[in-house]
Amino acid sequence: MKIYFHGEEFRPEPWLAALQQALDAAGLRADVAVWQPGAPPGDYAMVWAPPQRMLDEQTRLKALFNLGAGVDAITRLRIPPGVQLVRLDDAGMSAQMAEYVLHALVRHFREFDAYEADTRQGRWSFRRPRLRQDCPVGILGLGVLGQRVARAVQGLDFPVRGWSRSPKSVEELQIAGLQCYAGEAQLPAFLAASKVLVCLLPLTTETQGILNRDTVSQLMPGGYLINVARGAHLVEEDLIPLIDSGHLAGATLDVFRQEPLPAGHPFWTHPKITVTPHTAARTLRDESVAQIAGKIARLERGEGIAGIVDPVKGY
Ligand SMILES: NC(=O)c1ccc[n+]([C@@H]2O[C@H](COP(=O)([O-])OP(=O)(O)OC[C@H]3O[C@@H](n4cnc5c(N)ncnc54)[C@H](OP(=O)(O)O)[C@@H]3O)[C@@H](O)[C@H]2O)c1
Repeated sequence: MKIYFHGEEFRPEPWLAALQQALDAAGLRADVAVWQPGAPPGDYAMVWAPPQRMLDEQTRLKALFNLGAGVDAITRLRIPPGVQLVRLDDAGMSAQMAEYVLHALVRHFREFDAYEADTRQGRWSFRRPRLRQDCPVGILGLGVLGQRVARAVQGLDFPVRGWSRSPKSVEELQIAGLQCYAGEAQLPAFLAASKVLVCLLPLTTETQGILNRDTVSQLMPGGYLINVARGAHLVEEDLIPLIDSGHLAGATLDVFRQEPLPAGHPFWTHPKITVTPHTAARTLRDESVAQIAGKIARLERGEGIAGIVDPVKGY
């Protein structure tokens, strides 16, 4: 069996070594190598942002494993017919995402930036406590990451709402108190019932630009935006006017239309916007490789696997 690796952001040697070890442990014999243009046909590939040329040449792959949860860097390419695209299914990302969102939420809700500014000036000041019931958190996307975040937010007793494409129920998700909304028709009601908005949608033609003046202004007054999905979900020029008009209290952004965020972009210096460098949930090597090796073993035994991307839905 031949398995290729491609990922310009990753140093390949430790990935190849880890995958080889995981395959050996699963009793699979495989030759694992970095993909080069013109390489002979492979059986599987693990990739991050592959070039079109790789997909044009590797038409006999049984599966193409994406080294992340979001597959938008691949779905915009031509994928050979018959090649299954498989996304990472948590693999250590959901706990990181929950940490990130809780941090942003609590920092905003408890006004820690304002306390820090005061204490730096030697001021012992108190602020009136905010009430959780006045701060419902709405999560766009109730998938692998959105569900974990919903559970974590609910664990701190914030009211939680979630929005997905297909209808879901509290019983199905087992997240006590979660109010579920689904589809475009229920988006206005979801937004009107949310104060903090967390975006955890995949980037598709339907979700691109979903965070815009019209939608974000439907949040409860004094709302707060946390975008941890993809930069293209946000219409960037709409954000600062929403904050400066006072409708939004601020935003924490991990993802941007152009990454790295260009020097001089107004998000860098706006006092109510927190910028992080697309680091909310990183791909973890050992967890990812163990998951991919396990899925290859299942596919080789003719068994089904989780995480196959639906080419029609695009996620
Ligand atoms: N910043 C980072 O470091 C980082 C790290 C990892 C991932 N991400 C981003 O996070 C995204 C979500 O990951 P995931 O693993 O949770 O994805 P997932 O399991 O595929 O879940 C996606 C969720 O979005 C919903 N959805 C999709 N299209 C929709 C639409 N048009 N209308 C309403 N709901 C829609 C889905 O609804 P259904 O349940 O009905 O299908 C599902 O609940 C990834 O695609 C990636 O872009 C960012």
